[in-house]
Amino acid sequence: MLSTTIALMKAARENGYALGAFNVYNLEGVRAVGAAAEMEHSPAIVQIHPSALRHGGIPLVALCLAAAQEASVPIAVHLDHSTSPDEIRAVLAAGVTSIMADGSGLSYADNLAFTREMVALTHEHKGTVEAELGRLAGTEDDLTVEEYEARFTDPDQAVDFLVQTGTDALAVCIGNIHGRYRGEPCLDFDRLDAIRKAVSVPLVLHGASGLPEGMVRRAIELGVCKFSVNTELREAYLGALRDHLAESPDLLTLMQSATDAMKGVVSAKLQLFGSAGKA
Ligand code: G3H
Ligand code: ZN
Repeated sequence: MLSTTIALMKAARENGYALGAFNVYNLEGVRAVGAAAEMEHSPAIVQIHPSALRHGGIPLVALCLAAAQEASVPIAVHLDHSTSPDEIRAVLAAGVTSIMADGSGLSYADNLAFTREMVALTHEHKGTVEAELGRLAGTEDDLTVEEYEARFTDPDQAVDFLVQTGTDALAVCIGNIHGRYRGEPCLDFDRLDAIRKAVSVPLVLHGASGLPEGMVRRAIELGVCKFSVNTELREAYLGALRDHLAESPDLLTLMQSATDAMKGVVSAKLQLFGSAGKA
């Protein structure tokens, strides 16, 4: 059934687990998340990156919403990392109730102004806003942020940001990166603890691909209730196509292989995040 990110995060927080938010690009991605969530009796979030939205447009949004409505478990649909008021307006009009207004590439003053405006717009539609404070290094689709440009979330600034913007959920930067980690990830859990003590909104951790189990569990203990996962899904998709292309040039068989490979990744994450069995 179609749910909302805020309702799912509230339940996750109350019950000590986290949600998986999985980036999807097409039908195979949407089917993989839905099938894994149903298999694991888990809530889940399908999210659309702006580059996927530019590719699939509103039909991709409609696909996500329809699949969520059809599912036997609660699924929310979220617009990920948007920097565009027009894009946010378009998905809200299409029925999405959860967006990330990503002003992390702006100066603090401009991030405040952008986020405040997107919160007002989204709340008019009864939706909820996730924003990011600090800046995440790494690559996701057409967005690359170099390591020297990365900034960690400052707990005091987070308090000011939330008071000034009315943001509903906060994506934190504590050493997490988009894409593959080079070597062992190094997350600043003391900073996460300080953020959690300073703010009351749900916390979100992007760049969850490749995070070791222990770190995921620690992050959940310290208040993270939504993890964003993309790279591992894309790798599974492309790996399945590579592995099966030579032996089976049939298109539907290839599409099914890609779906199954992504479903396996989603299923393992839902177990790791503790949401399996919670729907
Ligand atoms: O917004 C999406 C996520 O932060 C994905 O990060 O590709 O490192 O899993 P990832
Ligand atoms: Zn992200």
